[in-house]
Amino acid sequence: MAKKRDSWGSRLGIIMAVAGSAIGLGNFLRFPAKAVSNGGGAFMIPYFISFLLLGIPLMWVEWTLGRYGGGFEHGTAPGIFHSLWQKNRFIKYFGVIGIFGPLVIFIYYIYIESWTLAYSFFSLTGRYSGLNDLAGMKSFLLGFQGLEKNQYFSGMQAAYLFFLIAFILNVIVIYYGIKGGIERLCKLAMPLLFIFGIILMFRVFTLGTPDSLKPDWNVLNGFGFLWNADFSALKSAKIWLEAAGQIFFTLSVGIGVILTYASYLSKGDDVVLSGLTAASTNGFAEVILGASIIIPAAFVFFGPFDMKSIANSGVFNLGFVTMPLVINKLPLSALMGFCWFFLLFLAGITSSVSLAQPAVAFLEDEFDISRKKAAAIFGIIAFVLCQPAIFFLGRGVVDELDFWGGTFFLVVFATIEVILFAWVFGMERAWDEIHKGADMRVPKIYKFIIKYITPLFLFFILGMWFKQEWLPIILMKNVSCADRPFVLSTRLGLLIIFSVLVILVKIAWQKRKVLKEKGR
Ligand code: PFF
Repeated sequence: MAKKRDSWGSRLGIIMAVAGSAIGLGNFLRFPAKAVSNGGGAFMIPYFISFLLLGIPLMWVEWTLGRYGGGFEHGTAPGIFHSLWQKNRFIKYFGVIGIFGPLVIFIYYIYIESWTLAYSFFSLTGRYSGLNDLAGMKSFLLGFQGLEKNQYFSGMQAAYLFFLIAFILNVIVIYYGIKGGIERLCKLAMPLLFIFGIILMFRVFTLGTPDSLKPDWNVLNGFGFLWNADFSALKSAKIWLEAAGQIFFTLSVGIGVILTYASYLSKGDDVVLSGLTAASTNGFAEVILGASIIIPAAFVFFGPFDMKSIANSGVFNLGFVTMPLVINKLPLSALMGFCWFFLLFLAGITSSVSLAQPAVAFLEDEFDISRKKAAAIFGIIAFVLCQPAIFFLGRGVVDELDFWGGTFFLVVFATIEVILFAWVFGMERAWDEIHKGADMRVPKIYKFIIKYITPLFLFFILGMWFKQEWLPIILMKNVSCADRPFVLSTRLGLLIIFSVLVILVKIAWQKRKVLKEKGR
């Protein structure tokens, strides 16, 4: 048989790594933008319900399935699904989503992560310190992204340079493997991230009412925007879809990443308490840290109306335009700016390495390629795939990748996974499997939730999606005519990547069959 699979060095290590994957740009950029554009207090109720009925159950399902698959030397969904349902010849192909999805997210995620590294550097060197209005800061961002030639940037050399640095750092971490790379990185980065987060949170707490002419624009009202519950919005399907989508994205569940991480556990390792700890740590980073920085800061300086229109104008504007402006108004702005952007970078890199790992594990486990070689192959292919997101950023490519990789396939994959677990593997067996080596019992109610509520909730989301958005999305109704060729090419590219993965799975299984027959 092949070489020994990699493994985690300690329990704290895997919890930090899963929390590291979960805590990312989603917590500090995507969450505030979604919460603000969906009405603040209105968003939080569906958000918490989704956390309890989708997030937590899927976390346990993925940890359990990952550990189970690891026992058969499979670290990715094709092999794990096949181990669960050996009689079915097709189920392994559904597992392709568990490699495809993370790869697609990786392609654009790493580019955004590289901006945070660039802005950390710009903060320290005072590159944006003289800018004091929205228009100026926006031009700075557009110039940096290569979407505009202006007095700040004449091309995208800086953006590309920082992309290269971030990319190489990621490949190095993956090259050193689970224990030597990912675990080591997360054990260092996570505590640092929390220190930066807490510093920023306290800074925001003490902002008071900066403009005495606008007494309503104070920190308390900033928090009230998010925490004053608004029950009237529960009737809006869109808010439910967005809240559930955010739960998937932020917890890194429903896409295959946690399956892979958990496949490096041993049979007797606990998954119940560890999974819950990772999910709660992410929750803390999102609703305590993530929610206490951008939203109140933007509120006190820009007021509720402008804050909403900034959030609606693009996910990145709150983080890369509003925050630097707020920071420029504070003492020690270079240091504060560094705190903010480097926090984002740490959050980003601990997530992007997790997005890379399924593809690397697939090469290692199913093709018997060494880790170092697999990391190199991944590096070359991913590097090429990243280019359209960089050069056609303004053409809707990133939105398209985010829709398929970061939204749609998450729900599809989660549905397949939970049905396989509760209905094919069987809830009784599944319940035993979850509790192997467990340090605590899962509350009994979750047996019912995992079997009925989570799948129904997922069907509801898919149904709503088909009803409301299917046609406009397929027909690119919200894409300008000029951008359509780019969006269409992105779709074609995604189809090709998916097909190649399907073929690779077929080849891997044929090879295994031949080996088995020879062995007889
Ligand atoms: N959870 C990460 C974030 O909040 O930024 C993003 C992410 C990582 C999504 C890994 C999905 C994933 F598999």
